[in-house]
Amino acid sequence: MRSSCLLVLVVIVAVKSAPAVEAGRSPESCKAWLVQSIPTDMPLLPRVPGVLASGDVLRWMAGNATRRLDVIAQYWQLLAQPGNPKSGDYGYSNADLERFGAGEGRAVYKALEEAAERRVDIRFLQHSGVYPDYTEEPSSLASGKPNVHNVTLLLSDWWGSGIVHAKVWISDSEDIYIGSANNDWKSLTQVKEVGVYLVGCPNIAKRLEIYFDNLWTLSSLNATAYSITVWDKIWQASRKVPCWSHFIPYRERCSSPLQHYVDTPHVDGYPILSDPDKFHVSLMTPGYNISSALQNSSYQTSYLSFAPPELLFEKFQSDEQAWVETIKSVPFGGTVRINTMDWLGESQYTKQTIYWSSLSSAISEVIFSKNATVNLLVAYWTHTLEGTEQYLKSLLYSNVLCKSSEYNKCHGKVAVKYYKVPGYKKTGAALINGTATGNIYPAYTRVNHGKYAVSDVRAHIGTSNLVWDYFYTTAGVSFGTYHPGIVAQLQEIFDADWTSPYVVPVEPIAAA
Ligand SMILES: *[C@@H]1O[C@H](CO)[C@@H](O)[C@H](O)[C@H]1NC(C)=O
Ligand SMILES: *[C@@H]1O[C@H](CO)[C@@H](O)[C@H](O)[C@H]1NC(C)=O
Ligand SMILES: *[C@@H]1O[C@H](CO)[C@@H](O)[C@H](O)[C@H]1NC(C)=O
Ligand SMILES: *[C@@H]1O[C@H](CO)[C@@H](O)[C@H](O)[C@H]1NC(C)=O
Ligand SMILES: *[C@@H]1O[C@H](CO)[C@@H](O)[C@H](O)[C@H]1NC(C)=O
Ligand SMILES: *[C@@H]1O[C@H](CO)[C@@H](O)[C@H](O)[C@H]1NC(C)=O
Ligand SMILES: *[C@@H]1O[C@H](CO)[C@@H](O)[C@H](O)[C@H]1NC(C)=O
Repeated sequence: MRSSCLLVLVVIVAVKSAPAVEAGRSPESCKAWLVQSIPTDMPLLPRVPGVLASGDVLRWMAGNATRRLDVIAQYWQLLAQPGNPKSGDYGYSNADLERFGAGEGRAVYKALEEAAERRVDIRFLQHSGVYPDYTEEPSSLASGKPNVHNVTLLLSDWWGSGIVHAKVWISDSEDIYIGSANNDWKSLTQVKEVGVYLVGCPNIAKRLEIYFDNLWTLSSLNATAYSITVWDKIWQASRKVPCWSHFIPYRERCSSPLQHYVDTPHVDGYPILSDPDKFHVSLMTPGYNISSALQNSSYQTSYLSFAPPELLFEKFQSDEQAWVETIKSVPFGGTVRINTMDWLGESQYTKQTIYWSSLSSAISEVIFSKNATVNLLVAYWTHTLEGTEQYLKSLLYSNVLCKSSEYNKCHGKVAVKYYKVPGYKKTGAALINGTATGNIYPAYTRVNHGKYAVSDVRAHIGTSNLVWDYFYTTAGVSFGTYHPGIVAQLQEIFDADWTSPYVVPVEPIAAA
């Protein structure tokens, strides 16, 4: 009895301490490319060579799948709907749509249909989708095909608000796309997106599949039975969370039904991990030549991070930690470049508004103590969130605080610019009730939608907007790496935007 208990204990300890990365084995070598969508009609934006196009990558991933294909999507609209009066595509001519690049979405849809025909085992997991057709596309792709499964997961049943917002493709358990592009034709040619395409990376894919499987499991569990409304001491709000959440006092937590979940006793919330799981994978970057001296650099580790924290497993870090540590990875005198659609220092969808200074604090910390320059690029478009400007000005006030005393040894600086994709004011259906609107692009287009940060040494490519909800109630995934080629090329992508004629500085508030 005693020895079997001991055996069980030993096994548990062995499982719990098993590194996520197969140390000792010869390191896996895979290929990595950065991926972009650049809206049409942006002639003045310099192109970064060697970067792939989102439409090509998604089409290839479907085209190359032989055994399985897993897709996490917020919503689907790969096929344009110019004839649907409820659609933001309504009223545009076929010639307009071809000019907008709608063919790219159609090609991705067709590649998915073909993968389904080839009997690839396909799983589509999404939020309920958007008006007017919600989950019609994955549903049609799955219709009559026993090898294609489609599931809708409503995170608001578990977290009170929040959605599946990750955009992740995994093909044959080894090729991966992670980035900002939705399964929407407009994301391929009318919205500015950034992502990463990893080819031949089974170790990384295996971990992403755990996250995927856990989301899939959630979709079949009874959320009412497994969620509870509690007082969250960290964020000072009453809110609904899964019953295994670390926002619940330790003794009141249930045991998680999800695979590989790690419980941390006697801690409120999700603490910063000192040694989050990393992948010691050697990345080759066919889209970017780095000198052979750098090729062997020891900084080849990569990582994944996840949101919300109740979906963390093993020793992977939360998405918030990964963003904060990317900012803090900046060396003395270095530069952090941050690109986002949304920026708010609070929550957007919760019943009680939550104040959230995690990222702005990290920025102020590095400009104060490390003489860092932080350049932040935020989208300005038809749907810019109210409050954005005030939070940006508040961040800019760090420059005033930095110089507030002659005794300060603060030499860093933050700069903020708005990104305005030309045409953003003229988006929407071309016709409403038979009357021309004067719009020249479909609805929800002409926006800088990428979500990434890059310091001098570390690149982080995510799916989350920089607002509290995306880190605590919404499903998001990021890939990050110290690979010098990815770091340098992501800097080039940022600098092409930052120095383009499509940006305008956000003006500071003057010192009192
Ligand atoms: C498979 O992917 C590669 C790039 O990784 C691409 O060149 C090729 O065209 C893809 N094949 C198909 C059938 O899509
Ligand atoms: C796909 O999912 C939606 C939403 O859950 C559901 O209504 C539809 O029946 C599903 N379609 C198929 C073919 O499984
Ligand atoms: C889900 O759980 C709740 C609370 O335990 C219970 O009342 C309800 O019947 C369950 N629903 C289903 C479909 O099992
Ligand atoms: C990388 O270098 C090779 C050989 O010099 C060249 O053929 C290739 O075009 C370069 N690739 C990029 C993306 O610059
Ligand atoms: C890189 O490392 C490998 C294995 O350690 C070694 O064989 C190779 O010579 C190194 N290349 C360079 C350019 O240093
Ligand atoms: C701070 O960094 C800038 C470069 O970003 C450099 O020009 C300046 O000399 C540095 N100042 C100090 C005090 O280190
Ligand atoms: C179109 O007209 C109908 C009937 O007059 C009206 O109910 C509807 O709100 C109109 N739609 C739009 C988008 O204005």
